[in-house]
Amino acid sequence: MKVDGVSYRSIWPTVDGEAVEIIDQTSLPFDFKVKRLETCSEAAEAIRVMRVRGAPLIGVTAAYGMALAMHADSSDAGLASAYEQLLETRPTAVNLRWALEDMRAYLLPLSPDERFSAAYARSAKIADEDVEINRRIGAHGLPLLRSVAERKGRVNVLTHCNAGWLATTDWGTATSPIYQAHNEGIDVHVWVDETRPRNQGAFLTAWELNQHGVPHTVIVDNAGGHLMQHGEVDLVITGTDRVSANGDVCNKIGTYLKALAARDNNVPFYVCLPSPTIDWRIADGVSEIPIEERDAREVTHLDSLFEDGKVAPARVVSTGSDVANPAFDVTPARLVSGLITERGITQASRESLAETFCDNVSQI
Ligand code: MRU
Repeated sequence: MKVDGVSYRSIWPTVDGEAVEIIDQTSLPFDFKVKRLETCSEAAEAIRVMRVRGAPLIGVTAAYGMALAMHADSSDAGLASAYEQLLETRPTAVNLRWALEDMRAYLLPLSPDERFSAAYARSAKIADEDVEINRRIGAHGLPLLRSVAERKGRVNVLTHCNAGWLATTDWGTATSPIYQAHNEGIDVHVWVDETRPRNQGAFLTAWELNQHGVPHTVIVDNAGGHLMQHGEVDLVITGTDRVSANGDVCNKIGTYLKALAARDNNVPFYVCLPSPTIDWRIADGVSEIPIEERDAREVTHLDSLFEDGKVAPARVVSTGSDVANPAFDVTPARLVSGLITERGITQASRESLAETFCDNVSQI
């Protein structure tokens, strides 16, 4: 997608073929910075502190992290240690484990001197596949928006967090149908949940949509139910960090409340799901998906642009109170109208997921 008219992906290999560059998302939306990653440790740090974030992009960065590790130490021990170092960076998005397992299985049979170039090429392939998966998700979701637009003129979509191109290699998942609708001339408007505590909606989704010229309005996280009650939301579309085999959807904290409000107001609630985000090993998402607990400082402080042009954290919670920061929640499958995958829209159920991805299930 475009930044000031220039096409970017969120991650790309460097021309010298020895490193990778990312858009440092901790600086957005106030500053646009590109950062070069040269080592596995730098890739791990980028994931941990959320310079890169979003399930698909975490997976792609981890794959490149394995490649960078092979540059320094391509032995079996080097491979095992890179796998462990990257796996422990964040617990919830299953794309991380998916990418690391893919890379390990691909690299282990190769001789150590082949591993760096093979890993670098494999990472680029995973990134390209991510772009194609997201393009297809958009193509399958587009008719949902088109049919509302044909009935009503304008289509109002509510989204939570950032499941945009910054959360993937390109296109995004939840934003892919939106970008494709906008590109086709459909009058699409997006309600952007600010998504406290880290503000991925207000900071990242709003920035992206602005760059692409998609009409949007940022709302506080608590506004969605009110807007749905008053007919201002035609459909909710979110991304996901992990979907269990029974179709339960784990996503950024607050998604579950949007699904409840959507159900009460007969608003369709769709989740864009790339197949690497399915965790076939987990039968019940509500009880089994690990939920990341993050630093209290993300709740008590908020990066802010002050009137003198400086960006600094501002305290937004009174001192002396306990603070909790669960970063994700799980929406039960029964509240999900459909999963928009690269193979089409499927029901959030064990049977439908298994039928749509029967070749993947058999690999487990
Ligand atoms: O903590 P984050 O910013 O990595 O969480 C991101 C989300 O929850 C996204 O909605 C999800 O990864 C889907 S991204 C296509």
